[in-house]
Amino acid sequence: MIYYSQAFSIILSLSLSAVALADMIDDSGLEPWETCALCHGLYGDSARSKFPKLAGQKASYLSKQIKDFQSGNRTNDGGQMQSMVESLSNDDIKQIVNWFSTQPAPKASPDKPTQTDINNLAAVLGGKLEQTCGTCHQAASAEPKTKAPAPALQIPFLHAQHADYLTKQMTDFKTSDRPSTSLHQPLLKSMNPAQIEILAQYYASLARTQN
Ligand code: HEC
Ligand code: HEC
Repeated sequence: MIYYSQAFSIILSLSLSAVALADMIDDSGLEPWETCALCHGLYGDSARSKFPKLAGQKASYLSKQIKDFQSGNRTNDGGQMQSMVESLSNDDIKQIVNWFSTQPAPKASPDKPTQTDINNLAAVLGGKLEQTCGTCHQAASAEPKTKAPAPALQIPFLHAQHADYLTKQMTDFKTSDRPSTSLHQPLLKSMNPAQIEILAQYYASLARTQN
C-alpha cells in the first residue's frame, strides 16, 4: 500500500505549481541534487523534453546556468528553476554540478532529420552547418579537471539533448527571452520555425562523447 500512496503523492506533486512544489519538498537529509530529480531525473537523464538533460553536461556551463537562474539573468524557465535554486549555497552548487556532469552522457535520439532537410539547413548557414555551430559546440572539447574553466568552456553540449528543449532555447534566443552573449541572434535570424526544429532534431540525434 505504501507504494500506492508514494506513487499518488508523486503524481500529486507533478500537478502542483513549481513554487508550491519547492515549498512542499522536505529536503532535510537529502543530497542537494536529489531535489532536482523530480524534473531532471536522479542521474540527469530526464524523461520529458520540457526538462533538459543535465547528465554529462559541461560542469562550467551547468554552474553558470544555476547562477544565472539565481541572479535572474536567465528567466525563460517559467519560474520553475529560480524557486529551486534560490537557497542553494556555493558548496551545494559545486556538489550538484559534480554529480550531474559526471553521469554518463545521455543517448542520442533515433529521430534523425532526412538528408535533404539537413542539406537545406546547411544552405541557410552558408553551406557550413558543422563549422557554424560546431566551432563553439563541438562534442569532443573536454573540460580541464584541474584548472578553473575558461569562460569559453561554459558552452553546452547540444548533442543528445531533447530536441523540443533545444527548439525552445533557440526560439528564446531569437526573441531575447533568454540572454546570449554569442552569435545566436544573427545566426538564427535567417531561420524560420520549421528550420529551427530541424536544427534541434539534428543535434538531438548526434551521439555525444563523454564529458
Ligand atoms: C519543477 C521542475 C524542476 C525542478 C525540480 C528543477 N528544475 Fe532545472 N529546469 C526546469 C525547467 C523547466 C528548465 C528549462 C527551462 C527552459 O525551458 O529554459 C530547467 C533548466 C535547468 C538547467 C539549464 C540546463 C541547460 O541545458 O541550459 C539547469 C542547469 C537546471 N535546470 C538545474 C537544476 C537543478 C540543479 C535543480 C535542483 C536544485 C533543478 N534544476 C530542479 C525545471 C526544474
Ligand atoms: C561563439 C560561440 C557560439 C556559436 C558560434 C554558437 N553558440 Fe550556441 N551557445 C554558446 C554559448 C556561450 C552558450 C551558453 C549561453 C549561456 O551562457 O546561457 C550557447 C547556448 C546554446 C544553446 C542552449 C543550450 C542549452 O542547453 O540550453 C543552444 C540551443 C545553442 N547554443 C545553439 C546553437 C546553434 C544551433 C548554433 C549555430 C547556428 C550555435 N549555438 C552557435 C556559444 C555559441
